[in-house]
Amino acid sequence: MSILKKSLSIIIGIGMIFAVFALAGCAEKIDYLVLVNKQNALPADWENKVEIVKTVNSLEDEVLVEKSAYDAYLKLKAALEEEGVFVDLDSAYRSVASQQDIWDRFTDMYGIDYVRQYVAVPGFSEHHTGLALDLYLNIDGVDVYMNEDMVLYPEIWAKIHAKLADYGFILRYLEGKEAITGYSYEPWHLRYVGDVKIAKEITEQGITLEEYLGKA
Ligand code: DAL
Ligand code: ZN
Repeated sequence: MSILKKSLSIIIGIGMIFAVFALAGCAEKIDYLVLVNKQNALPADWENKVEIVKTVNSLEDEVLVEKSAYDAYLKLKAALEEEGVFVDLDSAYRSVASQQDIWDRFTDMYGIDYVRQYVAVPGFSEHHTGLALDLYLNIDGVDVYMNEDMVLYPEIWAKIHAKLADYGFILRYLEGKEAITGYSYEPWHLRYVGDVKIAKEITEQGITLEEYLGKA
């Protein structure tokens, strides 16, 4: 091999190594086990890394969701439909401003005591990650999306909860774990943890994300 050819192949080789590193950098993975709760704000660099997709629900609201969580949600939704259970996405990713809007609207509707139990302070909502998904129900063709109406269907939620882990989701705010999560039971609020095995481990143990991470 001539010196010129040898130098060219070395240059191409180095170029390819740089290209691989550059691509790997673009595809930097988010931490699907990130903990955002009353004590832990959204990590500062999160918004630069997360890939968000957009969808529109049956109420014609635009909903933003982290991409892998949305793919998993579509599979969960299809599996539920096979059992005659119909769900849609009320809310997933929220900016700090949209969380503030919810805080204000819910304060007007339900009062501050309710809000402290059900709505995170802007900046401290798991919804900022794009990995928290609030579902609503469609029962006999009617959309049921108000909190006080959704809680009237525990048997439907039980069917939904039984399938979550198969798609990498956990139920985030469990009944009886309010002292750990800081929130009241929310049958509609799912959290994507990015790994079916981990979701099953958490669900089978009946624990919160805080307990799984040793941060309860
Ligand atoms: N409903 C949950 C706690 C939130 O607002 O993030
Ligand atoms: Zn929620």
